[in-house]
Amino acid sequence: MALTNEEAELIRDSFRVVSQIKRQAANRFYQNLFEAEPGLRNLFINDMDQQGALLMSKLGLVVAEIQNLDALVPMLEDLALRHVAYGVKPEDYDLVGEALVQMLSDLIGDDFSQEARDAWAKAYDELATRMISSAYSHRKASTN
Ligand code: HEM
Repeated sequence: MALTNEEAELIRDSFRVVSQIKRQAANRFYQNLFEAEPGLRNLFINDMDQQGALLMSKLGLVVAEIQNLDALVPMLEDLALRHVAYGVKPEDYDLVGEALVQMLSDLIGDDFSQEARDAWAKAYDELATRMISSAYSHRKASTN
């Protein structure tokens, strides 16, 4: 379901806070992710500081268009396909969503409201569903 204006605002406001401390935010996100599932660490082969910067910048783009993800479809499809090549599985998306929300909560603290948490969960779910369905669902072979 589409995000309400209020949900989008909660997402933008909370992302603004962590984007002022991007490096710390990225580090905390990966720390949370690898604590939850240490095996995922092996998928990351490039420099983690650079990877963190790329992640935060892409998230910034997505957050800016969070009520208009249709506009990002080509970008999201390419991103999702590259993730297949990185060895990411559909079920990994949930862990990333949890690590992301946990990072926001860790860094924003008490100011990260339950409403903001719910808005992120809803938005991430929509994002992940789109990425997963574009990258992992294969067309049935034609019977003609
Ligand atoms: C849902 C939103 C996600 C976003 C916005 C995102 C963003 C990015 C970006 C910007 C890159 C840099 C390379 C590129 O652009 O292709 C990247 C690489 C990567 N991402 Fe994600 N990602 C997401 C989900 C995930 C998930 C669910 C996993 C699962 C563990 C994951 C694991 C990785 C890995 C392994 C790499 C390559 C790292 C390397 O080259 O060392 N990402 N991601």
